[in-house]
Amino acid sequence: MPNSLAGQEILSLDETLQLMREKLSGIVPDVEIGIKAELAFKINRLKAEKNAVILGHNYMEPALFHSVPDYVGDSLELSRVSAETDADIIVFCGVQFMAETAKILNPDKTVLIPAEKAGCSLAAGICAEDVRALKRAYPDVPVVTYINTYADVKAESDYCCTSGNGAAVVQHLFELGHQHVIFLPDEFLARNTASELGVEYLDPILDGSTQTLPNEKCIIGWNARCEVHELFTVKDIRDARKQFPEVAVIAHPECSPEVVGESDFTGSTKQLIDYVQNVDAKQYLLLTECSMGDNIAAENPDKDMVRLCSFRCPYMNLITMEDTLAALEGIQYEVELDSELIRRARTPIDRMLSIS
Ligand code: 13P
Ligand code: SF4
Repeated sequence: MPNSLAGQEILSLDETLQLMREKLSGIVPDVEIGIKAELAFKINRLKAEKNAVILGHNYMEPALFHSVPDYVGDSLELSRVSAETDADIIVFCGVQFMAETAKILNPDKTVLIPAEKAGCSLAAGICAEDVRALKRAYPDVPVVTYINTYADVKAESDYCCTSGNGAAVVQHLFELGHQHVIFLPDEFLARNTASELGVEYLDPILDGSTQTLPNEKCIIGWNARCEVHELFTVKDIRDARKQFPEVAVIAHPECSPEVVGESDFTGSTKQLIDYVQNVDAKQYLLLTECSMGDNIAAENPDKDMVRLCSFRCPYMNLITMEDTLAALEGIQYEVELDSELIRRARTPIDRMLSIS
């Protein structure tokens, strides 16, 4: 989605400050808006000078989110945008696997991430050798890998998916005649996808032997979890419903199947934002990373967001405006991937983009 403020002509410092105040008053303290507006002004000027594009994930903190990205979105939207940009430099305000995906789609461009250590517990939860071991245990079973993985894991996979199209990608494979699909690395996303498609979920077994699978369709998962989304509980939902009986509970599919089962709607971060914008509810309880709640509140001042918890992704939190400015000034930190790895990791991403 093109971003409102940064998509315009380069604004003066006063105009930047005014627009940021309009959007963020009541969400970000005024003194902070003043400091962030100066940073935004410098970043946007430098961005134009260097023919750079800034992509911002929906979990960026509100001041950054609303001032410097040319495009904001979920992993799928940002992959699509990065595949089409004609900028020379892509600055990815998101975590490492997202910047890597942009590099895989743009091997000849400079792709920068403002903080080198912006990881992800899901991406850290599996390695390429794990995928190879699964392929030995389940020969001929196609591998669908969540985009929240590093390039070496993608390179071992047949298809990628995001939180917005996991079921569509698995369904595509079922329609091609496959009965079984390996779905990595998020156990909860795999379980939620299996229940959305009405098929069985199986835990992986790696005992060195080839596994026999049932005749029915099924999804074989892995054991990684998002350290943020696993914190939401059914009790959170029940407590909120007691206090706000008409609340719409909307959850990211990295939440547990029990949490998803008690929610009114599940979707990618973009789909959750669209839900708040398009569906009238008395209140909304958002079960995902908390900065996104601030960003939705800033865009939708008329909507009543129930603020029940504040689980911030520690990795997304590393991406600051100061570091985004430093990234453009010093052309740092550049994502570098081996060209053969890029070639192998690109196939599953292209397949995903072509079917969703
Ligand atoms: P989305 O693709 O839904 O934005 O999710 C990315 C993510 O990391 C969620 O925790
Ligand atoms: Fe990874 Fe979870 Fe953070 Fe998303 S919220 S980047 S899945 S740790």
